[in-house]
Amino acid sequence: MVATAVYIVVPTVIAILYSIRKYRVSKWGVCTVNKSLQGKVFIVTGANSGIGKETVKGLIKRKARVIMACRNMNYAKAVVEEIRRSVTTGELIPMHLDLASFSSVRSFAEEVKSTFPQVHVLINNAGVYTNEIQRTEDGFESQLQINHLGHFLLTNLLLDQLKKSAPSRVVIVTSTLHETGVIDFENLNAEKGWPKNNTRAGYKNSKLANMYFCQELTKRSVGTDISVFAVCPGLCYTNLFKNMKWYHYIFALPVAFLYLRSAEQGCQTVLHCAISEDPNLESGLMYRDCEVYKSRHQFSPEIAEKLWEYSAKAVSL
Ligand SMILES: NC(=O)c1ccc[n+]([C@@H]2O[C@H](COP(=O)([O-])OP(=O)(O)OC[C@H]3O[C@@H](n4cnc5c(N)ncnc54)[C@H](OP(=O)(O)O)[C@@H]3O)[C@@H](O)[C@H]2O)c1
Repeated sequence: MVATAVYIVVPTVIAILYSIRKYRVSKWGVCTVNKSLQGKVFIVTGANSGIGKETVKGLIKRKARVIMACRNMNYAKAVVEEIRRSVTTGELIPMHLDLASFSSVRSFAEEVKSTFPQVHVLINNAGVYTNEIQRTEDGFESQLQINHLGHFLLTNLLLDQLKKSAPSRVVIVTSTLHETGVIDFENLNAEKGWPKNNTRAGYKNSKLANMYFCQELTKRSVGTDISVFAVCPGLCYTNLFKNMKWYHYIFALPVAFLYLRSAEQGCQTVLHCAISEDPNLESGLMYRDCEVYKSRHQFSPEIAEKLWEYSAKAVSL
């Protein structure tokens, strides 16, 4: 009986699980663009870790010039050294950017404008996830500011640069978790706290704000040859969930088995939207697995416009 379990049941179960995982991996999108990006300037926020770091690698392998916008320059320099051990092409330019500080965003944008006459692609990737309400130095809930407002300001400050470099692109890294987010202008900045049973509210709302920003920026960019894409990388093993408790990992194991990607697998759609010349790429849409993703969220053009106004006021544009 025990021998049957050891020699037949266990290997069969392992083989089945292995095949399921392999099948799932085969369905994940891969960026197949092979062209040289020599002469093209990219900005990647949150470039020292996870999806941002792998996106940078994908770009310099294709000879791009990449500004790595990072909040910690020591991490950034260490990552440059690490990347250079495996990829020698392209150019890596680490620069300081703290999205939790509007003054840092303004300084960064000024430095970019004075140093780089052209910026072809801005990849708004940096992000944080937390269950607690934390405030930035500007007084905003941290996820709202880092994930949305900071990028909103950065993008607007670089719009002229992007226009001059057209055709250019803005890629906004969001998440399918936006589908259950809410834009409630009475509580967007966690004025009343998050509902007790929805500790991920701040993150989901910020990712929904990313979606609205993508849609409204597309609308306001008509006639400029700037394309805007929202991307969900899929569930990836990165530092994003570093604050999760150990027992969450046990509960998450089955989900992880089916869905968890490496950061390199996760960055494929970011790369696709940043560099693909696929004529089917459509500005204003969301992509996942290198394909259009149809969100189940009911979007409202009025909220998109109102959120833009709220954000412009918040960042003093
Ligand atoms: N991982 C997933 O499953 C998943 C799923 C859907 C969407 N996403 C999105 O993917 C994006 C990248 O996340 P990731 O998974 O790669 O996580 P990650 O490994 O934690 O990377 C996040 C990056 O953002 C940077 N960052 C955080 N706060 C910042 C600030 N104030 N100013 C500038 N940079 C800051 C981090 O810098 P430090 O290293 O200094 O903290 C890090 O480089 C995020 O927008 C996230 O919402 C991730």
